Amino acid sequence: MLRPRRNRRTPAIRSMIRETTLSSADFILPMFLHEDPHDTPIDSMPGVTRWSLESLVREAGEVHSLGIPAIVLFPKIEESLKSSEAEESYNDDGLIPRAIRALKAAHPTLCVITDVALDPYNADGHDGIVRRDAHGELTILNDETVGVLCQQAASHARAGADIVAPSDMMDGRVAAIREALDDEDFTNVSILSYTAKYASALYGPFRGALDSAPKNGDKKTYQMDPANIREAIRETLLDEAEGADMLMIKPAGLYLDVIAKVRETTTLPVAAYQVSGEYLMLKSSSAEGWLDERTIVLESLLSIKRAGADMILTYFAKQAAMWLNAKGE
Ligand code: PBG
Repeated sequence: MLRPRRNRRTPAIRSMIRETTLSSADFILPMFLHEDPHDTPIDSMPGVTRWSLESLVREAGEVHSLGIPAIVLFPKIEESLKSSEAEESYNDDGLIPRAIRALKAAHPTLCVITDVALDPYNADGHDGIVRRDAHGELTILNDETVGVLCQQAASHARAGADIVAPSDMMDGRVAAIREALDDEDFTNVSILSYTAKYASALYGPFRGALDSAPKNGDKKTYQMDPANIREAIRETLLDEAEGADMLMIKPAGLYLDVIAKVRETTTLPVAAYQVSGEYLMLKSSSAEGWLDERTIVLESLLSIKRAGADMILTYFAKQAAMWLNAKGE
């Protein structure tokens, strides 16, 4: 009789045949910051903080010392700096460029990733520039937006960002950003493209954290339909051809099939973003005592890695790294 259970008999045997392992080096921590000198707990994401610049630098150092190689920055921009053309997004003295400079000065080995999209800076709360026609119908302008994204990416590169991550889903932005970076001799700055970003209900808590929800309409003309996977392959092939260095799937947990398919399609590194709604689902159910937090969080991250992700953006990065380091895994 064939007995697969022999391979599960002892912890030693199980550890030898384990196909997937997690470590702190797999994680990228998304971090929120604001201009305020105080740190603010984020109501919509229990356990997550919006940091002052000073605290951000301190916390990033702590996170990095746990073996986490990278963070990605998300700014809350003051309402008075938001505009329809999102000019603040490429202000070299803006919050993000100042944060990049402070982080790289304090922690030179930390990989600093920035989000390239207009929603925190845009009075309309959309990732691109909005035009409203006579009937009040909204259009998100593709090519005009790409021009601004190029300026935003270049401004992050000038401040010292290692990787820029366009999360806007405009067409042609990877090639345009690559050219804009190369034109300024930033040939070593990488592009992590949000290749397949779905129009998901799971971003709600994040928009609460940054006050960046769209004022009108939704994001369905640029973010992908959750029903589609062939379209993710099309986006993968385009981003690869346009020169992306790494690709991202978002959200992660409900889209493991997309991660697996993209993994088979490309030789590029693949990242997956366990988004705010996924965080909240795991956090709230374990806070109630309905699920065991450590077990469910590590299982969710392991599953994302097993599906094919090389890197995982997760709000659990620090906690998971502490659990994994303590266990010597
Ligand atoms: C916007 C952006 C969003 C997230 C990351 N970048 C929100 C959105 O697209 O509406 C969501 C991340 C999360 O939910 O954790 N460019």
